[in-house]
Amino acid sequence: MTSRTTTDAREAARILVGGGIVAIPTETVYGLAALVHDRDAVMRVFTVKGRPFDHPLIVHLSADEDPSRWGRLSPAARALAAACWPGPLTLLVPRTALVPDWVTGGRDTVALRVPDHPLALELLSLLPDALVAPSANRFGRVSPTTSEHVIADLGDDVDAILDGGPCPVGVESTIVECTDEGVRILRPGAVTADEVRRITDLDPAGDTGPSRAPGMMPSHYAPRARVVLAENPDAGHELLRRLLAEGKTAELLWEEDDARYAAELYARMRDADDRGVRVIVAVLPPELGLGRAVCDRLRKAAASRSS
Ligand code: TXA
Ligand code: MG
Repeated sequence: MTSRTTTDAREAARILVGGGIVAIPTETVYGLAALVHDRDAVMRVFTVKGRPFDHPLIVHLSADEDPSRWGRLSPAARALAAACWPGPLTLLVPRTALVPDWVTGGRDTVALRVPDHPLALELLSLLPDALVAPSANRFGRVSPTTSEHVIADLGDDVDAILDGGPCPVGVESTIVECTDEGVRILRPGAVTADEVRRITDLDPAGDTGPSRAPGMMPSHYAPRARVVLAENPDAGHELLRRLLAEGKTAELLWEEDDARYAAELYARMRDADDRGVRVIVAVLPPELGLGRAVCDRLRKAAASRSS
């Protein structure tokens, strides 16, 4: 806890309305929030994160907001919003004139989501505007899933941290691009390709490939430790034995249960870094359901280091 940590959504709302920036809990990861139409505050979010200004932000809406004020939702997008919001799903749709350029980096699309966290929903219901909220990490670090992670990364650069405890999902929202042509998964998350298929009756293209949202460089998901991948637990243990025999500080990252693996993924990477672990041997889960999102983040973490 720091003096900037609070559990009071009304205090967070006051700070945001006063032009401040506040780290907020969501069900996926912590976000660094500013009012969408407060240009200076949004600019500060980019600056504090160290994020390029043309890297678009997700607009977070309150549960009773009409998303069609912000974007043009296709029938499939409407079905997804009705079925999954509040929840770990971001819809990428053509934007309306209400969305300012500084949120989308000048693109003609906007990313929208209603987060499923009681404190975030309470906060949003108190505000006169929607919130931008990129993950509350310094650019190039893994997303924070506790208020302590936020403090470690951003510390005194934020005006407050709304502490909602550990984020239950642990990996960023599924991003689904919705056009008149169909739906495409740009970033896998807790809303799975099967769910998208069932809800929309459309085949989501792109769900087997790597994340394709712009600016999603591998380094976004990388700890300082080198991440090497193992196809199964036996291979992981074997690799770990070899590394330890070579005198390396190495450890295994694996959970049998995919939901738990996702929830603990970033915290365990950060913890390994804090303890000076040099190599993380990460076991890839089966690429099904949430396992696909875990594989996506692990592959990115592994790809970002060549040695
Ligand atoms: O779970 C989440 O989505 C978290 C929580 C805090 O809500 N937020 C999050 O935001 O992950 P961020 O900024 O770290 O990642 C959002 C991604 C960006 O990397 C960007 O590629 C994509 O969403 N994005 C946002 N707006 C876009 C747009 N107009 N066109 C294409 N991609 C967009
Ligand atoms: Mg991020």
